[in-house]
Amino acid sequence: MRFTTVTLFPEMFEPLRSEGVISRALKRNLIQLDTVDLRQFGTGPHKQVDDKPAGGGDGMVLRADVAFAALNSVLQADSIVVMTSPHGKVFDSSMAKNLSEKKHLILMCGRYAGFDQRFIEKHVNLNISIGDFILSGGELPALCIIDATSRFVPGVLGNEKSAIHDSFEDGLLEAPSYTKPNLYDDLPIPQILLEGNHTLMTQYKRSEQLKITAIHRPDLILGVWQKLSKQEQNFVEKIWKHKNK
Ligand SMILES: C[S@@+](CC[C@H](N)C(=O)[O-])C[C@H]1O[C@@H](n2cnc3c(N)ncnc32)[C@H](O)[C@@H]1O
Repeated sequence: MRFTTVTLFPEMFEPLRSEGVISRALKRNLIQLDTVDLRQFGTGPHKQVDDKPAGGGDGMVLRADVAFAALNSVLQADSIVVMTSPHGKVFDSSMAKNLSEKKHLILMCGRYAGFDQRFIEKHVNLNISIGDFILSGGELPALCIIDATSRFVPGVLGNEKSAIHDSFEDGLLEAPSYTKPNLYDDLPIPQILLEGNHTLMTQYKRSEQLKITAIHRPDLILGVWQKLSKQEQNFVEKIWKHKNK
């Protein structure tokens, strides 16, 4: 799978090449990453990429013709053009999984007031937001999208199983994790995790998963409600009753 970012700040993607899971995947050629410097496609002697907003208003707008020239330099028949935008669909794990099945994602990184709407309407396949807040540019959202999507590309996570147990995979948050020391301050690791009984451990982890999700993300529990056993539904209802007392 290949990612291309179109950005005024190509160097913001360099850390991906040097750290962690994604850098290893790049080195093993499981994913490719290239950047297009939007500035190179600017107009005039100053390579201008933006201009004042039509009708007045704050900030500068990135020009559609400049954006298209940059996009066109990397566009292929199988490219999916993604606009990072607070107006987009909020990014989540299922979108990441879906995108990981595509061959080539082109991530447009806005700056200032964003791209001219005509470019978005004409050339963008998917608008993605990473949440209801405003960042100064689309580079951080693009980094999030590249990282989360790459984790679903076969082979990127050394141990394939680790993705299966991650939060959101079965619609719930992952159960909490512990490691040595067995006693930290006055807090022990839950005894059941130290006893080596796999059946009991699996049951315990499932109940912790339900508990933590019921407390922190009741919306997720409701999304998988019909998939829970009657016993699990009762367990969750008890937690909610207790919480609302
Ligand atoms: C300062 S923002 C522009 C915000 C725009 N004026 C608005 O209010 O909707 C500049 C760029 O950052 C990116 N951006 C900012 N917040 C984002 C978010 N929550 N999700 C995805 N991209 C975002 C987009 O590429 C956007 O074009």
